[in-house]
Amino acid sequence: MAPWGKRSDMVVHENDPYNAEPPRGALADQVLTPLDAFYSRNHGPIPDVDATAWRLRVDGLVDRVRELSLAELQSRYEQRTVVATLQCAGNRRAGLIKVRDIPGEDPWGAAATSTACWTGVALSDVLAEAGLQPGVQHVAFSAPDVSQLASPPAPYGGSISVKKAMAGDVLLAWSMNGHPLPRVHGAPLRVVVPGWIGARSVKWVERITAQEKPSSNYFQATAYRLLPAEADPAKAGPGDGLSLSAVALNAEILRPDDGETVAAGPVEVTGYAFAGDDRGIARVDVSLDGGAAWVQAELDEQAGPWAWRHWRTLLELPVGGAEITARAWDTSAAVQPESPVHLWNPKGYVNNSWARVCVHVDPAARPRPE
Ligand code: MTE
Repeated sequence: MAPWGKRSDMVVHENDPYNAEPPRGALADQVLTPLDAFYSRNHGPIPDVDATAWRLRVDGLVDRVRELSLAELQSRYEQRTVVATLQCAGNRRAGLIKVRDIPGEDPWGAAATSTACWTGVALSDVLAEAGLQPGVQHVAFSAPDVSQLASPPAPYGGSISVKKAMAGDVLLAWSMNGHPLPRVHGAPLRVVVPGWIGARSVKWVERITAQEKPSSNYFQATAYRLLPAEADPAKAGPGDGLSLSAVALNAEILRPDDGETVAAGPVEVTGYAFAGDDRGIARVDVSLDGGAAWVQAELDEQAGPWAWRHWRTLLELPVGGAEITARAWDTSAAVQPESPVHLWNPKGYVNNSWARVCVHVDPAARPRPE
């Protein structure tokens, strides 16, 4: 049995802390990622929180400090459900590592991203009831899992702007795809910040603090910041680089797989595209000649403003080999950058360059079973 109830073919980058993504094909076709395929990103040991003893503390610059049990959260506030894609800022880092090595960071492929239907309460409802005081600019989240990556080792945390926190769709979620939130994904309660990098969706959250400044937690102040290419990450300190928040426009090819042998004849090429915050996916182009000529893929239905969009097209691949390239455009008419070369950064975040897979086209190969 694979750990944490995951598929046995997960690509496990680390066992402890557990860091794993599914094979890319597992993300194809369905909007909601099955729980056993949902990627998992952890910076420390996964805590085993006793849900009955657990309390959520809401404090800082609020009129009424709160200590809420799960039952109180579930009964006091309106229940909300949001379909939201989580995407790690390190998604597709492997493409940056091909440009130049990134020591100490996992080579995440195309699948450090997944989508679930999350149920919980709106963070804005909880904050409104606590009463935000003037001067609140940020809302910080604290968790109990201690990471050795911080020096000295420190619990995980992060923050979001009060504007995002009060926008309504940030959830405190206890359910994922209609199931109780699994321990590996943050039980009993996690934050889900739709459209922002996964790092801000703090799992096992136990404290929410309204404050003037962003969180000083290592994972907000030092990690998950985009350093200039020439910076030495070992020397980077709190506040260096750009703080990452909204997910950059990105897309990947999910089928065929990179290196796969496909039968000659028409081949369906399919993948995902996603843009954070208030941008949607407007178009996905696919090319067989490195971007000289493009065809437009068909976009699947949009499952909600915070969900990725799957896309597909049929291509006639030439016998021998083919490189398939894809790029997405968002609703602000921005397009993905072509090359990872100019995106390289010392921690390997935000590789949103064009997607590429190479396939072998074998006239004798049998078509994939439907
Ligand atoms: N929350 C805690 N407490 N500890 C963590 O290590 N990792 C973050 C975020 N929340 C993390 C966390 C990162 S970087 C990502 S991408 C998402 O959780 C991954 O969520 P998942 O494991 O449910 O897929």
